[in-house]
Amino acid sequence: METEDGSFTVLGPLGETYHSVAGAVLESQYVYIDCGLHYFIEKKQTAGTLPSKIHILEMGLGTGLNAFLTCRELLTCRELLTEPEIFYRAIEKYPLPSDLADRLHYATNPQEIACFQGIHSDTWDTPYRITDRFTLLKHRCDLLDFNPVGKPPVHVVFYDAFSPAAQPELWTEQALQRIVPLLAPEAVLTTYSCKGTFRRLLESLGFTTERLPGPGKKRHILRAVFTTPQI
Ligand SMILES: C[S@@+](CC[C@H](N)C(=O)[O-])C[C@H]1O[C@@H](n2cnc3c(N)ncnc32)[C@H](O)[C@@H]1O
Repeated sequence: METEDGSFTVLGPLGETYHSVAGAVLESQYVYIDCGLHYFIEKKQTAGTLPSKIHILEMGLGTGLNAFLTCRELLTCRELLTEPEIFYRAIEKYPLPSDLADRLHYATNPQEIACFQGIHSDTWDTPYRITDRFTLLKHRCDLLDFNPVGKPPVHVVFYDAFSPAAQPELWTEQALQRIVPLLAPEAVLTTYSCKGTFRRLLESLGFTTERLPGPGKKRHILRAVFTTPQI
């Protein structure tokens, strides 16, 4: 279905859309790219500690829009034209049928189309190099069973599950404990949901949280910085 910014989203089986109906691209760009990835990069650049390879972990690949916008950012954002490299892991239990992905039209030029097709290639559980600086590793599993080999140091988390009302089990300590042990110090997590219980849960797990103004008509979104690594 079309959202208010003219970009498309999908209505899922739980009766929820994959993105805000106020704007799929508007929401993804703001919540995950601007408030998550760019915030991390700017902070690390200022401190002179930007890693040459940024590890992103997305909960819920869905349409691939967040992965696509990340890849597009590397191709188009002036500050990111030469570095860093991005290693993008995404967890997805119910992959989107490819005919649906084909109808989303997020990509507008051949380079972007190649990138979007790469994101939706049938390559699971093995890294797939989409551009020279963007590698995708899709994990076809339930978040609650996620247990990657090698414990990668995750710098940025895009927490994009369906809402706490639709899938309460994904907003629990049990769910977050699949991710927290992987986090690098000062890792940044963003999500569109500002639910108080989730925010307090993050605080109890060592995050410092802040509510930020939301995109469109949404009042708030959540950003959390992992300040107390657990030993
Ligand atoms: C809000 S949508 C994600 C939107 C996505 N980031 C995008 O840009 O299209 C939530 C996603 O989580 C996936 N999902 C639902 N339950 C899951 C689970 N237990 N483990 C992993 N993924 C799950 C759904 O299939 C869906 O793709």
